[in-house]
Amino acid sequence: MLGIRKVSIIGAGHVGESAAFIMAMKGIADEVVMTDIIENLPEGKALDMMQAGPILGYDTKIIGSSKGDVYKAIEGSDVVVMTAGFPRKPGMSRDDLLGKNIPIMKTVAENVKKYAPDCIFVIVANPLDAMIYAAKKVTGFPDNRLVGQAGALDSARFMAFLAMEKKVSVKDVWAMTLGSHGDDMVPLREYSSIYGVPVSKCVDKDALEKIVDRTRMGGGEIVKLLGTSAYWAPAAGVCWMVESILRDQKAVIPCHAFLHGEYGINDLPVGVPVKLGKDGVEEIIELDLSDEEKALLKKSADHVKEVCDRVEELGLLK
Ligand code: LAC
Repeated sequence: MLGIRKVSIIGAGHVGESAAFIMAMKGIADEVVMTDIIENLPEGKALDMMQAGPILGYDTKIIGSSKGDVYKAIEGSDVVVMTAGFPRKPGMSRDDLLGKNIPIMKTVAENVKKYAPDCIFVIVANPLDAMIYAAKKVTGFPDNRLVGQAGALDSARFMAFLAMEKKVSVKDVWAMTLGSHGDDMVPLREYSSIYGVPVSKCVDKDALEKIVDRTRMGGGEIVKLLGTSAYWAPAAGVCWMVESILRDQKAVIPCHAFLHGEYGINDLPVGVPVKLGKDGVEEIIELDLSDEEKALLKKSADHVKEVCDRVEELGLLK
């Protein structure tokens, strides 16, 4: 029998269900399992998506699991995506979710270790910087199998704003953000370009500063509009990463990965360009940054360290 590509999504909220739908639509996975602790929610959403298959033309098997040993259904997953947890409400920072979402991560990570010990574990729920740290502590997975989704989303926001500003196709734009998934992320000007021209050379200076700020606050802008967190763009970011892993595309995508001296940062999960393939994090791409960008990245990494330390201080994994 041919191997099937199986992805499990923990959490059938907005991000989880949107990711499952995009995976089906794009044929990224053969089987998608959604789990949730809300009884019947993932089963209902999975069945609804299965019934859309004949019209939209996908054969992806979508399964929900919320009863009994909820996590047993994730057995044999190539990739597990963690989206479960509380979303932000207006006025909240991502870090305000620490006390509520780290204990959820602990339970989930224990079950991922039990039922999908060989998977690539993709972390999405917030506060992302601390969630991936907790995932590592609980699972003990090697660093190449732990990766966080944030840079894909933040970079996509940067790209969308640039395309809107210059009135060009998003296909003509490439942009990147590094660092934490917080307001001190680092949008890169020299490595972001429109039809190959660095944005510092082709976008009006004031407009570019506004876009950089809007990118940094991009999550908050949606929270203000919706009263809850974004989901289409985060889910698209997940699918970009999962597709590269399952198809071994080796796409370079900004993601949270554990660094070991790259960018002068040690043993911390920070957003950097990562080559993603069947082994997960296959290479960290080290860019030559300006002194200002280096300083901003260091500040951002210090912030990541602070939230990871807080997980320990508060004893949230005990
Ligand atoms: C955002 C949340 C999902 O940036 O972190 O929209």
